[in-house]
Amino acid sequence: MRDESMQDEKERQYAYIERARKHVEKLTKELGRKPVYHVTTFGCQMNARDSEKLCGILEEAGFAESEEENADFVIFNTCTVRDNANQKVYGRLGELKGFKKRNPHMKIALCGCMMQEASVIEKIKESYRFVDLIFGTHNIYKFAELLCSMYEAEGMLIDIWQDTSEIVEDLPVKRKYPFKSGINVMFGCNNFCSYCIVPYVRGRERSRGPKDILREIEALAADGVVEIMLLGQNVNSYGKNLEESITFAGLLREVEKVEGIERIRFMTSHPKDLSEELIQVMKDSKKICRHLHLPLQAGSDRILKAMNRGYTKEEYIALAKHIREEIPDMALTTDIIVGFPGETKEDVEETISVIKEVEYDNAFTFIYSKRTGTPAAAMEQVPEEIVKEGFDKVLKTVQETARKRVKRYQGQVLEALVEEVNEQDDSLLTGRLSNNTIVHFPGSPSLIGKIVKVRLTECRGFYYLGEIEKEAEAYGRI
Ligand code: 5AD
Ligand code: SF4
Repeated sequence: MRDESMQDEKERQYAYIERARKHVEKLTKELGRKPVYHVTTFGCQMNARDSEKLCGILEEAGFAESEEENADFVIFNTCTVRDNANQKVYGRLGELKGFKKRNPHMKIALCGCMMQEASVIEKIKESYRFVDLIFGTHNIYKFAELLCSMYEAEGMLIDIWQDTSEIVEDLPVKRKYPFKSGINVMFGCNNFCSYCIVPYVRGRERSRGPKDILREIEALAADGVVEIMLLGQNVNSYGKNLEESITFAGLLREVEKVEGIERIRFMTSHPKDLSEELIQVMKDSKKICRHLHLPLQAGSDRILKAMNRGYTKEEYIALAKHIREEIPDMALTTDIIVGFPGETKEDVEETISVIKEVEYDNAFTFIYSKRTGTPAAAMEQVPEEIVKEGFDKVLKTVQETARKRVKRYQGQVLEALVEEVNEQDDSLLTGRLSNNTIVHFPGSPSLIGKIVKVRLTECRGFYYLGEIEKEAEAYGRI
């Protein structure tokens, strides 16, 4: 029954895409040219994937993509995980106002996590009246319908849902890269870390059925995709709400069998739910990349408890050590927050000691940002100067240890997936190693999308310079 109603919903949305085509045809006549769109994405990989879905629908409706934000239809897919992401959106909206004055046909839409916050909607209604359409994270699958309603109505259209259990499959998608793609395996988060707004704006955990996921991956492989990234806020709890009994490790085993897929990545793993089964699947796999992102957040047990993370410093270190023992070439990266309420200098030292012990290949370090409605917002905040001092110290430690880790492959030949022509120097290509390190090397753009063997000649901190291994080329392995 549920599957049937999802199927009906998909058909409804395709009907709206047809209807949107009529609006775009009318606009084409008025403008005397094909209308153009621009999607600006803030935030994480999930948002990047959502944006590909928005682009897919806009292209099907007849818009062409524009590199410029000064387009006929502009959409900001927003993030609200930290306040600076929100501030960026307001700043950029100010610029759009100027463009819209000069192009009366221009329409502006906002979607994504930030729109799930009531205070944001109030602010936009008050100070950004020129916005035409606002929707949230739960009804993004209705974008075609909302697009039609926007063209058919006057004034600002706002449609925000508090939650949903629906997952609508098989709507159009326009991938940014032909050879790699993200795939949602689950939506939402049930963890309620006390600093984090995600569970409030993305809703409760919902896993997609394994058959739907595999069907999508098979279709991607048939379309030339060689690398996939399975996406979820907490992939290790995949399958918990499904009728069939399946774990994330079990899903990975199935994904491994898809022919044509050569590399598998996933994001994000919560340390408290990482199973031995998953470690063994990674160890045995030929395709799962040698990179695991394992957010630490803090190293002090007191702060970890206040954050509601569900593990201690010792448990985390033991897990990291065990992974490195089982899979020695596994790169470990992490997220760290400095300045959580109540965090002292001694607590920051505990975080630093974990960084030194684990020796991350890379770490994203964030200054704690107070998010309205989360439990941590009501706790006593740490003064800015103290946070800054701790942040600088953590960053320095991360850089020192990461440099050492990244360098250990110097001189070796490893496989890289060629992603693009180097942005600064167009005689170079940019590729990504299985462990997620970037390498730049001379080569022809015809290699983009291929996996090549590269000798890593010089480590430059977080990345390498290299050259394609000639012998490998001669043997036709690239
Ligand atoms: N302040 C700072 N960083 C945060 N993150 C999540 N919420 C906050 C916050 N309120 C960080 C966490 C998470 C990453 C995606 O963003 O480190 O892992
Ligand atoms: Fe936020 Fe914690 Fe869920 Fe990650 S696991 S999205 S940090 S609540």
